[in-house]
Amino acid sequence: MLSTKMEKALNDQINAEMFSAYLYLAMVAYFQDKNLAGFANWMTIQNQEETFHAMKFFNYISERGGRVTLEPIDKPQFEWESPLAAMEAARKHEAYITGRINDLMNLAIKEKDHASANFLNWFVSEQVEEEDSVNAVVQKLRLLGSDGGGLFMMDRDMAARVFTPPAV
Ligand code: FEO
Repeated sequence: MLSTKMEKALNDQINAEMFSAYLYLAMVAYFQDKNLAGFANWMTIQNQEETFHAMKFFNYISERGGRVTLEPIDKPQFEWESPLAAMEAARKHEAYITGRINDLMNLAIKEKDHASANFLNWFVSEQVEEEDSVNAVVQKLRLLGSDGGGLFMMDRDMAARVFTPPAV
């Protein structure tokens, strides 16, 4: 059985993951508006991953006999001054999510909730990957600078990303 505190914290994380999905959907719209279909595809996959994360918390709460509660999702930013600025915002957001996962893990340890700590371990590893993949895009964009041709090539590469449900 989940403690009331843990149940609330896990429910808050469903909201944070759904907000992530919403933020990345706003980025899909931004990239589509800029005719960067590859970047839009990359962010569409990111959106799907976040929904997957939210459902993982959702199912875990149920499995532990808790009650899932759903709160309103905040309005995300939807305009950025450049593709680089959008990807930097995504990177900053992932660092924030990593911080939240660490806080959840700290709570699980404090409460001696081993099942939750074990469950959260998956997210600890996942966040390393999440930060790494966004960071790789940011670094490439920085290297390109104002090279429009390079951005076009990169957009083609970004179109190749497909959604594969992360290993559980
Ligand atoms: Fe669910 Fe991108 O962290």
